[in-house]
Amino acid sequence: MDRQANHATAERLATDGRTDGRRPQSVVRVAAAGDVHCRVDHRDAVIASFAQLRGQADMLLLAGDLTTTGEPEEGAVLAEACRDLGMPVYAVLGNHDWHVNRRDELVDAIQAGGDVVVLDRDWRACETSGVEVGVVSVKGFVGGFPGSHLPDFGEPLLREVYRETSRDVEALDRGLREIALCPVRIVLLHYAPTEATLAGESAGIQAFLGTDRLASPIAEHEPTLVLHGHAHGGTFAAQIGTVPVRNVSIHVLGRDFHVFELPDHAAATIH
Ligand SMILES: [Fe+2]
Ligand SMILES: [Fe+2]
Repeated sequence: MDRQANHATAERLATDGRTDGRRPQSVVRVAAAGDVHCRVDHRDAVIASFAQLRGQADMLLLAGDLTTTGEPEEGAVLAEACRDLGMPVYAVLGNHDWHVNRRDELVDAIQAGGDVVVLDRDWRACETSGVEVGVVSVKGFVGGFPGSHLPDFGEPLLREVYRETSRDVEALDRGLREIALCPVRIVLLHYAPTEATLAGESAGIQAFLGTDRLASPIAEHEPTLVLHGHAHGGTFAAQIGTVPVRNVSIHVLGRDFHVFELPDHAAATIH
């Protein structure tokens, strides 16, 4: 987190061509950041950065790599930074958060105090600023893109990697069905669901940065917005069909947060 850079930028999304012509009844301000990589020795800077969000957003979404190595002490830094922010905070884990393989202790540390909810193949709906917002979150995983897809063939270990991504795709589909009636629906990932937001990364590692298998439920259910991180050298904006996809890695943003202003008139359709 770089407190010297602009703290946040704002972007009003008009639901990219899916507006119905009505003026929005309300606008919900969703702050987002990925790859915060909290560390104990950065505690003061992280807390100061998050404190500046008070009054500037109605919700905060964190797109994984919440910590540097997944130590619970690093998660406690995030929990402290989110204490009494005055807005719902949802987070998904990233690969860094798994590194020391203390997932349950880390989640407990992040959720201590009740200010942050870690979503792991799960969804929530909440009302904030008078708008009902549904959030579906899966970490995602490797798997590749056209020309580099990991096959469901061969060694059991490789096929288990394929199945791990399948479980995320299924959870994403399930969650999007659950929040189908929310006027604002957001998908929160760590890995990328499209290669378009990886532009800038080396072509040789793109298969490790995500997979377009995650794009299928997004294309089907057309949420309001898709967020991911992980690709530190990638590109901010892309689309899956008409759905805006944003790589909110702070390394891509060049600042601590991006604030999306989302009108509540996005048509909710049951698929
Ligand atoms: Fe990261
Ligand atoms: Fe990552």
